[in-house]
Amino acid sequence: MKANATSNTTFVHAGRKKRMTQGSVNPVIQRASSLVFDCLADKKEAGKNLTKGALYYGRRGTLTHFALQDLMCELEGGAGCYLYPCGAAAVTNAILSFVATGDHILMTGAAYEPTQVFCNVILQKMGVSTTYYDPLMGAEIANLMQPNTKVVFLESPSSLTMEVPDIPAIVKAVRAVNPDVVIMIDNTWAAGVLFKALEQGIDISIQAGTKYLVGHSDAMIGTAVSNARCWDKLREHSYLMGQMVDADTAYVTARGIRTLAVRLKQHQENSLKVAQWLAQQPEVKAVYHPALPSCPGHENFKRDFTGASGLFSFELNEKLTQEQLERFMDHFELFSMAYSWGGFESLILYNQPEEIAKIRPNIARKLTGTLIRVHIGFEEVEDLIADLKAGFERLKG
Ligand SMILES: Cc1ncc(COP(=O)(O)O)c(C=O)c1O
Repeated sequence: MKANATSNTTFVHAGRKKRMTQGSVNPVIQRASSLVFDCLADKKEAGKNLTKGALYYGRRGTLTHFALQDLMCELEGGAGCYLYPCGAAAVTNAILSFVATGDHILMTGAAYEPTQVFCNVILQKMGVSTTYYDPLMGAEIANLMQPNTKVVFLESPSSLTMEVPDIPAIVKAVRAVNPDVVIMIDNTWAAGVLFKALEQGIDISIQAGTKYLVGHSDAMIGTAVSNARCWDKLREHSYLMGQMVDADTAYVTARGIRTLAVRLKQHQENSLKVAQWLAQQPEVKAVYHPALPSCPGHENFKRDFTGASGLFSFELNEKLTQEQLERFMDHFELFSMAYSWGGFESLILYNQPEEIAKIRPNIARKLTGTLIRVHIGFEEVEDLIADLKAGFERLKG
């Protein structure tokens, strides 16, 4: 794996300027719509600097937001970070900032499903066309570029099926055809730090901060860290769309990031142990954990990432019947059945192969068995394995 991991010191110290902390360790929670100017000259000055950290109006952010934005920029190496009320808002507003009627975008065909639905419903309604590409495609993506292609959207690893794309090859090929295209990535799995998107020539790194940044499954936020080239447009278009997050959520997100490095290490250790155990089970056809060779694109993972997080999938030999699914899924003691991931707790969900095929129409890789997705939290690994083992036993019954 790559060696240049983000320094632990950065997670602890970034975004803690005195102006934001005012004598405490953490930033203050400044809840505000109105921010008061002492005189006309102050109002004028704030207006001139409203994108440079001046307190102007609540929707432009308060000290709490500025602290989190600074922290994110340091973590991901960006010129600016926009904050959204959830990850889906970050994805959709980042795309909307760079397209107009008549444009075209290239979208990974294995994206988080609501991202694809946004393209099929909202972009289509606006007259923006979408071509889905196979995430395991490399430089050949150049053949899909059109003169009106404005955005190339990546996600790594893919949602559910976990393919790790060859991002350096894709970025190089796209830039060779048109250097002005905006390349963005849903970088949630890597928490923006295990894969350094901006260092790889990507313009905007998007996260559902709801997952690892918050880390405790109790708040929703989206982040988009941009390079200097795209920052002004991303910021102003997102602002015009009314995007904002409350100060309390910005505060808990910054607090979550203080322990992100240690949490990610534990997610990696625990998820790898569970994945390796699963790979030995006779009921399992293959484990799709980016750090294991059985995951498509594992070589790309080894080259480009500095570590793994806690979310992965495994495919069973068979497609389970409804009755088998109920026996397997309904009785876990530790794994909860729930959407989302990235918290301290373990989660489990399933998808049938035909459900995957339906949302992956342009992808060569086909699954035949039921796909189980797990998020591995901080319980004792032996306890999690015992819980999964009992699930396999129930299938035999
Ligand atoms: C990869 C990915 N991106 C984006 C999102 C959307 O995030 P949110 O639920 O905060 O809108 C999710 C949510 O599950 C996700 O898994």
